[in-house]
Amino acid sequence: MSSSSKPSSTVLLLTLALFFQTSFGVNDFLSSSCSKTQNFTSNTPFDSNLKRLITSLTNQTPLTGFAQASFGQYPNQQAYGLSLCRGDVSPSDDCKTCVSEATSDLLKRCSYIKGAIIWYDYCLFKYSDQDFFGRIDDSHTFYKLEVQNVSDPQAFNHKTNEFLSRLAEEAHGSPKMYAAGELKLEEWRNMTVYGLTQCTRDLSKEDCKKCLDDAIAKISDCCAGKDSARVVRGSCNVRYETYPFFKE
Ligand SMILES: *[C@@H]1O[C@H](CO)[C@@H](O)[C@H](O)[C@H]1NC(C)=O
Ligand SMILES: *[C@@H]1O[C@H](CO)[C@@H](O)[C@H](O)[C@H]1NC(C)=O
Ligand SMILES: *[C@@H]1O[C@H](CO)[C@@H](O)[C@H](O)[C@H]1NC(C)=O
Repeated sequence: MSSSSKPSSTVLLLTLALFFQTSFGVNDFLSSSCSKTQNFTSNTPFDSNLKRLITSLTNQTPLTGFAQASFGQYPNQQAYGLSLCRGDVSPSDDCKTCVSEATSDLLKRCSYIKGAIIWYDYCLFKYSDQDFFGRIDDSHTFYKLEVQNVSDPQAFNHKTNEFLSRLAEEAHGSPKMYAAGELKLEEWRNMTVYGLTQCTRDLSKEDCKKCLDDAIAKISDCCAGKDSARVVRGSCNVRYETYPFFKE
């Protein structure tokens, strides 16, 4: 019995691993960053304010896909935070799961640090002891680097930049500060490029546009003329792929 159960349990484990990988792929971790400022200890006012903040964001974000909140009255004890789900993600379902996971994950990754940010594929969570609302976050930028060259990269880069700029124009004027779309490129054998732009909704329209324009300009640092690009900042993100990655 033991001789036959071993290989089959290995197969079962592999199957389970594959199942969990695909079913929970919606909450893919991208990156995180712990601020270098200050630490806190447990059972202090900041600790309890951060816990209240996380409870609040976990409850509020699934309503519209975005929430911001702050708790505490006194300097050094206040906790400010926001969470944002990708614009196409179902708020009450995948968004909720993503924010729950991202918040508890970040508390582990940056334990007892007074400011941090985490990106998942489907959501973003950020907190600080400083009021950062309404300001473009220049301190956090993350690039996704898994890219292939395309033919005629300069022309391709020009096309995708133009395309993302149009999406940025649309996003900054929309209530969700989100826009996604597709572009068919006849010159590249009718290749379709899928693009997405989004801002955290604490920004003004003007700052949203500025954040997105800067992010698009940063594509040249990672992915100009490549078949995939992703610039994820603390206040906005832009991305394109040559396969559909968002829901209509
Ligand atoms: C805060 O904690 C981190 C890790 O727990 C440590 O590396 C860092 O030196 C601490 N910073 C301060 C200012 O105490
Ligand atoms: C892509 O292009 C860059 C610059 O033109 C080149 O250095 C690199 O080797 C190319 N990569 C592949 C996989 O073709
Ligand atoms: C691209 O699409 C157009 C219109 O759908 C079609 O006429 C053309 O033949 C296609 N080109 C290639 C290279 O597939």
